[in-house]
Order: sequence, then C-alpha cells, then structure tokens
Amino acid sequence: MFGRRKSLSEVTQHSHGHALAKTLSWPHLIALGVGAIVGTGIYTLTGVGAERAGPAVILAFAIAGAVCACAALAYTELATMIPAAGSAYTFSYAAIGETVAWVVGWSLILEYSLACSTVAVGWSGYLVGWIQSAGVELPHALLVGPHAGGIINLPAVLVALAVMGMLIAGTRESATLNIILVIIKLLALGAFILFAMPAFDSGNLKPFMPYGFGSTLDSDGVQRGVMAAAAIVFFAFYGFDAVATSAEEAKNPKRDLTIGIIGSMAVCTLIYMLVAVAAVGAIPHTELANSPEPLALVLRTLNQPVAAHLVALAAIIALPSVILVMMYGQSRIFFVMARDGLLPRRLAKVSPRTGAPTLITIITGISIAAVAGVFRLDEIAELANAGTLLAFISVGACLMILRKTAPNAERLFRSPAPFVVGTLAILGCLYLMFSLPGTTLVRFGIWNLIGLAIYFAYSRRHSLMAKAG
Ligand code: ALA
Repeated sequence: MFGRRKSLSEVTQHSHGHALAKTLSWPHLIALGVGAIVGTGIYTLTGVGAERAGPAVILAFAIAGAVCACAALAYTELATMIPAAGSAYTFSYAAIGETVAWVVGWSLILEYSLACSTVAVGWSGYLVGWIQSAGVELPHALLVGPHAGGIINLPAVLVALAVMGMLIAGTRESATLNIILVIIKLLALGAFILFAMPAFDSGNLKPFMPYGFGSTLDSDGVQRGVMAAAAIVFFAFYGFDAVATSAEEAKNPKRDLTIGIIGSMAVCTLIYMLVAVAAVGAIPHTELANSPEPLALVLRTLNQPVAAHLVALAAIIALPSVILVMMYGQSRIFFVMARDGLLPRRLAKVSPRTGAPTLITIITGISIAAVAGVFRLDEIAELANAGTLLAFISVGACLMILRKTAPNAERLFRSPAPFVVGTLAILGCLYLMFSLPGTTLVRFGIWNLIGLAIYFAYSRRHSLMAKAG
C-alpha cells in the first residue's frame, strides 16, 4: 500500500562514484547542529512570538522545544541505526515504503530550502538595519520584495549565492568555517543574556498569557495564542536533523551522531529559554512585538547601544552559517532522492575533487536565492515549519515501526520509552501543525499535490527499486 520498501542493508550500500566522502567527526557535527539550530528563529522570530503569545512566548519556546526533544531522540536512534544520507526520507524508505518516503523527501525540500530563504531574508533585515543605523541610505527597491513595495531583496539573494559557492568549494572547509561562525553566534547570545538579565522586571510578565493558550485567528488577521507562537518559534529549534542528514559523511557515525544530535539540541534549548526570559523580562512584550531585530531592540531600549551594535554585527557575520548547514542538508536530500532514481539520476553525480554533489548544490542555491529575493519572512518560515513537522511525524512513526519490524537490528543509541517518545513526537507535531495559519496549510497541501503528481508521473517508474524488482 505504501510502495516498495528498502531493506536496512540496502539503504547503506551505494555504487562507486555515488557515495559521499567520510570527512566529518563529532566537533564538526555539533557545530553543524548548533550552526543549523541557532539562527533567525531566536534572533528574529522571538518578536513575532511575543506578538502572538505575549510574555508566554517563553512557554511557547518550552513547548516547541519539548516536541523537538522527542523528535531528536527518535532521530538519533534512527540515524545511528541507518547511517546513510537522507534522514527522514531514508528512514521512511526502510520503515514504511517508497510513496511515504517520497512525500517526506518532498517535505524536507520545503524544510531545508525555505529555512535557507527565511534566514537569508532575516540576515538581510539585520544588515540593512545595521547599515542604516550608521546613517547610510540604501535604495528601498533593492532591499525588499514586491510584497513591501520593492523589486527584489538583493542582500538576501547575494548571501544565498555566496553560501552556495562555499559549499561547492568542499564540505570539510565549509564545516570548519562553520565552527568559527557558531562560536561568534553563541558569544553574542551570551552577551545579550548578560546585559538584559539584570533589567529583569517581573511586572513585564503580567499578564503572562494575554491571548490565551490555543491558536485562534484574531480580528486583526493575526493568529494568536501560546500555540500560535509555538507553531512559529518551532522554526528556532530545527536543524539538528541536518546532522542526521550527514550521517554518511561521519567518520565514526555511531559515536559522532549521538553526541552531535543530542548535544546540539540540549545546548540550544537551554540558551533559548534564557534568551526568551531575558527579552520579555527586560521590556514590555508590546514593544518587542514584530521587531525585525528584537534582540538589538531590547539592548537599545536598555541604553546599551554598543552591545546592541555588537549583537547585530554578530548576527550579520554568523547567520549565514545556518544557511550553510541547511543548504548542505538540502543538497544531500536531493542527492539521495536522485541516487534512488526518484529524481533524474545524473543529478546525483559527486565531484571527484570534493566528494560533494555540485550540480544539485547549484540548482538548490539558485532556487533558495530566488525565493529569498521576493517573499515575506514569516510566510516562508511558516511553510518551512509545515514541511518540517511532517518530516518529524514520519520520524516518530519510523522509530516505533522499526522497533516492531526490526527489533534485533543493531542500535548504538536506544531512545528511552520509544513508544511514548514516538507517540508524543507525532501528537506534538500534529498539534503544532494545526496551530499554523490556515493559508499555510493550504499552501502545504498544494505543494504535496504537486509532489505526488511528479511521483506518479515520473519517479515511481524511474525508481531503482522498480528497475531492480
Ligand atoms: N533553527 C534555524 C533558525 O532558527 C532554522 O534559523
């Protein structure tokens, strides 16, 4: 019913010239994880979250983090059991079947590519704000897309293309540079907490939940409530799955992936809670709401212009590391789907020099830049979230299915209480998904209809498994 299924040994074997080079170890993987996780979500969407939930944006971060923690446990067990590129797509191929794997892969394309575009737009906002705060005027038409009266968001396009160039230059070099950027990003968040926390005023947290808990559409057209905020700040947490995506390139997948995924997730959740408490505790949430640069705004309001300047500068320097990791993950998903024959197979060729898939990276980079050039940040982020939530649901399901169908397969990392964790991941993701605005869900439905049309018109017949079987 769900299509052809791969055996566990099939998903980890590849013909010569189509396997990725093993160049990464655990410090690279933790940096990949933190590099992908800490980005526009905490730097920019904290403001959107405050608009939707008030001070209870803190609770929204906790809810989204708890759901992601369940997904992270499932990911880690599956990634160490199936150390092959493709993450949720590859897991679904082995546990459920090709049709579901295709739908998941198609959703991952949405996750990775739109997350890149979102961060590129967020980066552009920080850059423009930073330059203009120095008194330099820039042509509006080249700073925002048509939705805001401009022509194209040129900085967003340029940063996406620059990151594409770095990936083409070679995985290992990019991952090492990523470590430096991650350190800058974490130092800036640490500085934010240090400067904002002393101004904590419990009065700013009252009332804590002004818009209630469930997600409802307000009369001004804004989706509000703690769950509405959780559904958008969820964006801040994902990215750890990019580590699972690079399993095939890990030198010692079992040890390195366990440390990489769980470690990066734990570090980020802790930091987010501190940043959220510091931000809504320092100034009234109404001032924070919808600021394009909420962290810098808090510091300026607290009369710390130099710190505000430095935090913004760190965001400008370091946010591209998120694009780097997500674009890396995206090109790998395309690569694996092409290698399986579901997309044209010649796309899966890896460069003999770098061991990375060059053609797919170019296609991915240009598409990401095009979306970043014209669309609105929150809309792109919400659609990316929908794709990610579907992938996480499949991972929760795969965890439980493989415990039943392959109970004796080797698992270096075993999730505690897998059936509770898997069920919580699925239910939590469904709740978050249905807390997204209706328009986002409609767009997500259309994206999947297009995907299924391609699958039944092309991929199903060209699948290597169809040819083999
Ligand atoms: N978690 C990543 C970010 O917040 C995608 O930018």
